[in-house]
Amino acid sequence: MELSGKHIVLGLSGGIACYKAAELCRALIKEGATVQVVMTEAAAQFITPVTLQALSQRSVYTSQWDAREANNMAHINLSRAADAILIAPCSADFMAKLLHGRADDLLSLMCLARPLESVPLLLAPAMNREMWAHPATVRNVAQLRADGATVLGVGAGDQACGETGDGRMREPQELLADVIAFFQPKLLAGQRVLITAGPTFEAIDPVRGITNRSSGKMGFALARAAHEAGADVTLVAGPVALATPQGVRRLDVQSAQDMLQACLSQADQASIFIATAAVADWRPVASTDQKIKKDGSGQVPHLALQENPDILATLAQSKRAQSGALFCVGFAAESHDLLAHATAKRQRKGVPLLVGNIGPATFGQDDNALLLVDAQGAVDIPRASKLSLARILVREIAQRLPGTAL
Ligand code: C5P
Repeated sequence: MELSGKHIVLGLSGGIACYKAAELCRALIKEGATVQVVMTEAAAQFITPVTLQALSQRSVYTSQWDAREANNMAHINLSRAADAILIAPCSADFMAKLLHGRADDLLSLMCLARPLESVPLLLAPAMNREMWAHPATVRNVAQLRADGATVLGVGAGDQACGETGDGRMREPQELLADVIAFFQPKLLAGQRVLITAGPTFEAIDPVRGITNRSSGKMGFALARAAHEAGADVTLVAGPVALATPQGVRRLDVQSAQDMLQACLSQADQASIFIATAAVADWRPVASTDQKIKKDGSGQVPHLALQENPDILATLAQSKRAQSGALFCVGFAAESHDLLAHATAKRQRKGVPLLVGNIGPATFGQDDNALLLVDAQGAVDIPRASKLSLARILVREIAQRLPGTAL
């Protein structure tokens, strides 16, 4: 559970996206958060407080005149208890109100009264595309950010008004991911991370090829963790059936040569390169345009192979890596003698950090155990989910970046 121990005040202002807030409330609670809902009068026109009360298992606050609070200061009591206030949906009108520090209803009063340093304010805008693009809204978003609010993105697509464009509220699962990411320490802020993930596919003919057993899960978890840690992330992915982590730029490739080209095109902008891909060691010298037919004679085709480029070694030997501008991390999937093989591989690849794991024990799984090998020696990271391991690895990488004291 990603939000255990967190107390979120979920504020709803008026908008048709209020119906999504019900699902969001459920999703936050499923991840272990406690949720206190506060609604404006306009929000209560779109969805009833009863619905939100049932989902949050707490009575909903709608008025600053609510006599249930002993001191009659719901705006103070509610905001002091929160780890974050999330306004979803946040209407154009509510943004304008926040911007001016107006406080004529409980929700705006509570936002104004929140302790700025300890209670972050997250806004999930929801409005018609013209309203979202209006200079007044653009100005308000910029000023709200300057005032310390985190203004989340908006979705694009069909709008309740029948128009199509930017401005609809992000889906509940996307907002949930935003909230989880928000609470992660920004250890890689300002870094640009390039990650390879998944297998490569080396075509023999249009229907066959050489590939590796790799689900891509570790690399995708790392991309998510790096993004959550504030990095700008590009993920170069071989053929895998995984959804792109939120906020991550993805380039899909097939073969090792494609993967190398994609990495070379990105490497100049990167400050960290993490090679998790299981790159096929060899490819057919030639692949045919037509399917090689089995003719029943028992003769097998002769398959001539040649070695693929080593993407990690290529980038690790680049000028930028050698000068310390590109920090390279390699992976090693071994079947035995992990420490010896990982130590030797680190030196052979010329990387400061190599992450070893027992391949057959992790292929396709959601968890793994890692061995980190650097110039100082080796450290075991015990079995955990790939996302937990990815977050640990992000911390380990951040500590080893040039200019950071270990
Ligand atoms: O040599 P080996 O395949 O065991 O090395 C594993 C590490 O090197 C991984 O980080 C993998 O992503 C990377 N690699 C690569 N290009 C290759 C082979 C491996 O980037 N052709």
